[in-house]
Amino acid sequence: MTDTVNWKNIHDHVVEWVLEAGESLKRAVKGHLNVESKSSPDDLVTNMDKQTEQFFINKVRTSYPGHQIVSEEGFGDEVKSTKGILWFIDPIDGTMNFVHQKRHFAISVGIYEEGVGKVAVIYDVISGDIYHCIAGHGAYINDEKLDELDSGELKTSVVAINGTWLSKNRRIDPEIVRGIAEHTRGTRSYGSAAIELAYVAYGILDGYLSMRLAPWDFGAGLILIDEVGGKATQVDGQPLQLLEQNSILIGKKGVHAEMLRYVQEGIQGGKYVQQK
Ligand code: IPD
Ligand code: CA
Ligand code: CA
Repeated sequence: MTDTVNWKNIHDHVVEWVLEAGESLKRAVKGHLNVESKSSPDDLVTNMDKQTEQFFINKVRTSYPGHQIVSEEGFGDEVKSTKGILWFIDPIDGTMNFVHQKRHFAISVGIYEEGVGKVAVIYDVISGDIYHCIAGHGAYINDEKLDELDSGELKTSVVAINGTWLSKNRRIDPEIVRGIAEHTRGTRSYGSAAIELAYVAYGILDGYLSMRLAPWDFGAGLILIDEVGGKATQVDGQPLQLLEQNSILIGKKGVHAEMLRYVQEGIQGGKYVQQK
């Protein structure tokens, strides 16, 4: 049944939809936002997160009624398995940036069939850059094809690490993360996992580490990274689980291997790493 899926058609629809939704976000960012906190004061949601998610869900349900949706704000499906065609939608990735910085936020849409990545679109709304791919046909920033990533080495790398993981936290011993950071050329933190993953795929970042990403955060980025020959795992090297919250270690192959070595040496030395 699914071998007749027209991925190009789906890809083109998603690009059209992110551009349409992006126009509303650009208008909204200049006006009054209705901001609420969810689980904690730093876990924000706005009227636009909800509106944008509903926009996508209506579009998917109308155009592709058999497909299932995993999304952040609760309007998607309760998905228990990776069977069939699954959409991972983050209507605004980087809501804190959306509210405070008014830039560096993205719409992230990743589509999988039987657990295999097929289409990815990450739209950095304010910069206007669209990172996108149909698996097996190359990844692009706008119309420019992305190069296959080279292996890289940590000492000449720029790696995205959120300050959370360099300070005291319950998921990873910050000494492990500092060990990685000290061996890079520099670190960055942009506040949108989707954009950070897109930057790794584009080759302007060499790696990225996070201890807490949801499937809608990394669903699209992972497809882009695979397409350009990068490597992505959980922080301890285990494979990523598509339907769960994961830690994530991603990068050029050589950079990933070096970062993983620091994590493994840390664990062997008795430092803590908690995946869930
Ligand atoms: C968040 C961003 C952030 C990452 C968080 C995510 P949201 O997504 O991607 O960069 O560090 O873990 O939850 O909540 O803005 O969609
Ligand atoms: Ca997100
Ligand atoms: Ca979000």
